Amino acid sequence: MNGGNVLIKSVRLYGEGEPVDVLLADGEIRQIGTDLGITDAEIVDGTGQYLLPGFVDLHTHLREPGREDTETIETGSAAAALGGYTAVFAMANTNPVADTQVITDHVWRRGQEVGLVDVHPVGAVTVGLKGEQLAEMGTMAAGEAKVRMFSDDGHCVYDPLIMRRALEYANSLGVLIAQHAEEPRLTQGAVAHEGPNAARLGLAGWPRAAEESIVARDALLARDAGARVHICHASTAGTVELLKWAKAQGISITAEVTPHHLLLDDSRLETYDAVNRVNPPLREVSDVEALRRALADGVIDCVATDHAPHAEQDKCCEFAAARPGMLGLETALSIIVATMVRTGLLDWRGVAAVMSENPARIAGLADQGRPIEVGEPANLALVDPETSWTVRAKDLASISDNTPFEAMTLPGLVTATFLRGRNTARDAARIAGGARRAGNRGGP
Ligand code: NCD
Ligand code: ZN
Repeated sequence: MNGGNVLIKSVRLYGEGEPVDVLLADGEIRQIGTDLGITDAEIVDGTGQYLLPGFVDLHTHLREPGREDTETIETGSAAAALGGYTAVFAMANTNPVADTQVITDHVWRRGQEVGLVDVHPVGAVTVGLKGEQLAEMGTMAAGEAKVRMFSDDGHCVYDPLIMRRALEYANSLGVLIAQHAEEPRLTQGAVAHEGPNAARLGLAGWPRAAEESIVARDALLARDAGARVHICHASTAGTVELLKWAKAQGISITAEVTPHHLLLDDSRLETYDAVNRVNPPLREVSDVEALRRALADGVIDCVATDHAPHAEQDKCCEFAAARPGMLGLETALSIIVATMVRTGLLDWRGVAAVMSENPARIAGLADQGRPIEVGEPANLALVDPETSWTVRAKDLASISDNTPFEAMTLPGLVTATFLRGRNTARDAARIAGGARRAGNRGGP
């Protein structure tokens, strides 16, 4: 018997210093040191591995309620746990929309029942995501789920007066508005980044200005309301410049970038494979470079997956008819290793900051993104930095298969995730048919 205690042996914290042993007990980090003399704990061998705070995803689509054929809170939680996440924020664009406390509390409770990751519901800003009438943010914030982030994601809160009221209301409640920055008048019918590639391929273009004009506008609205605003999935070099400017003015603005916007560009559209259709669209190499630098410099605060599962029939069709969105939870860490660590832009402390500490702070989570110290909650990710693995959609825990990283061999493997001391990645692998997955993952 080990009372549920776990001893992670010979692991390097944040990939730094000498290896240590870390004892997890009663949901906390109980001891850190060498030769701890522990005999009654399950041993996890951390040799050659790094211990990081568990990751926090501010942008996940779990599709429950409404599209359980593409993802459920259970399968999405399994994907999250396998990806090293201990908390995710589930976006409100479900069916019904999460615009009332009944729905947000249901999502929270279902997440706790599954128990693999804390699923924090994001409440809608406007009723039905229609952009016309503010949702009752106050009751959602006061409910069991204690909703602290609101977004119409999938849609932009495009009416400047509604956005202004939302920021004022959110400010008085102490909650955050996350904006999907897309001026809809500029993206009607758009399916791909507006540029030479889309023009050559005959795809209707989504100009950078559609994103940037909303980022600029919302920075000014946040300034005047004295409120915080968070920008979802920043995708252009111009957005980076605007964030830099706004932060220099002292405006309370934060932003996330997705792994796919850090790795992929619009040259992928060549094949017309709709797996590459996403909002905002894959941009140009110069944007990708600017986004990487911005994440390294802190102009962009964090990584968020925008994990967006879609059914085969909604993806295996004509590009313009396909739904936008890509899977992201199980591949996020590896993409960050490939784009940010292997390129020398971030060290592992930096990875902990952008994957865990910064998103936890932005969302106001007190029990996530904490330092790896005695007495702190045992919300942790164990990462093998050297092992690489080949992505196979069929092996992922997600119900859907729409990963743009299919067949890519990626560096960095999450080998365990601890939520309040429990190895949730192991439990998730059981749900997801871990044997196939483990069989596919291995040495380089
Ligand atoms: C998201 C979705 O499928 O819900 N799609 C996407 O392309 N990113 C919505 C969103 O995040 O805008
Ligand atoms: Zn969005």
